[in-house]
Amino acid sequence: MYICLCKAVTDSQIREAVANGATQFGQVRKELNLASQCGKCGILAREVFDESVERN
Ligand code: FES
Repeated sequence: MYICLCKAVTDSQIREAVANGATQFGQVRKELNLASQCGKCGILAREVFDESVERN
Protein backbone atom coordinates (compact mmCIF):
# COMPACT_ATOMS: atom_id res chain seq x y z
CA MET A 1 0.00 0.00 0.00
CA TYR A 2 1.20 3.48 -0.78
CA ILE A 3 2.21 5.49 2.26
CA CYS A 4 3.63 8.48 0.43
CA LEU A 5 1.65 9.30 -2.68
CA CYS A 6 3.84 12.23 -3.70
CA LYS A 7 6.95 10.07 -3.90
CA ALA A 8 5.23 6.72 -4.51
CA VAL A 9 6.69 5.02 -1.45
CA THR A 10 5.02 1.86 -0.12
CA ASP A 11 4.90 0.31 3.34
CA SER A 12 6.93 -2.62 1.94
CA GLN A 13 9.76 -0.26 1.03
CA ILE A 14 9.80 1.13 4.56
CA ARG A 15 9.83 -2.40 6.04
CA GLU A 16 12.58 -3.42 3.64
CA ALA A 17 14.71 -0.44 4.68
CA VAL A 18 14.34 -1.50 8.33
CA ALA A 19 15.12 -5.13 7.46
CA ASN A 20 18.24 -3.85 5.71
CA GLY A 21 19.46 -2.18 8.88
CA ALA A 22 17.90 1.28 9.10
CA THR A 23 17.50 2.18 12.78
CA GLN A 24 16.50 5.85 12.53
CA PHE A 25 13.36 7.20 10.89
CA GLY A 26 15.42 10.03 9.40
CA GLN A 27 17.58 7.51 7.54
CA VAL A 28 14.56 5.87 5.92
CA ARG A 29 13.02 9.21 5.16
CA LYS A 30 16.16 10.36 3.38
CA GLU A 31 16.78 7.07 1.61
CA LEU A 32 13.27 6.84 0.18
CA ASN A 33 12.65 10.55 -0.26
CA LEU A 34 9.65 10.11 2.04
CA ALA A 35 7.59 13.05 3.24
CA SER A 36 9.68 15.44 1.20
CA GLN A 37 6.86 17.08 -0.71
CA CYS A 38 3.51 17.74 0.99
CA GLY A 39 4.51 16.03 4.24
CA LYS A 40 1.06 14.52 4.84
CA CYS A 41 2.48 11.00 4.94
CA GLY A 42 4.89 11.76 7.78
CA ILE A 43 2.78 10.47 10.67
CA LEU A 44 1.71 7.27 8.95
CA ALA A 45 5.23 6.65 7.67
CA ARG A 46 6.54 7.00 11.20
CA GLU A 47 3.97 4.50 12.46
CA VAL A 48 4.96 1.96 9.82
CA PHE A 49 8.61 2.53 10.69
CA ASP A 50 8.07 2.09 14.45
CA GLU A 51 6.02 -1.04 13.88
CA SER A 52 8.74 -2.49 11.61
CA VAL A 53 11.48 -1.75 14.13
CA GLU A 54 9.50 -3.51 16.87
CA ARG A 55 9.06 -6.59 14.71
CA ASN A 56 12.68 -6.68 13.61
FE1 FES B 1 4.41 11.98 1.16
FE2 FES B 1 3.15 14.03 0.07
S1 FES B 1 2.36 12.07 0.57
S2 FES B 1 5.18 13.95 0.73
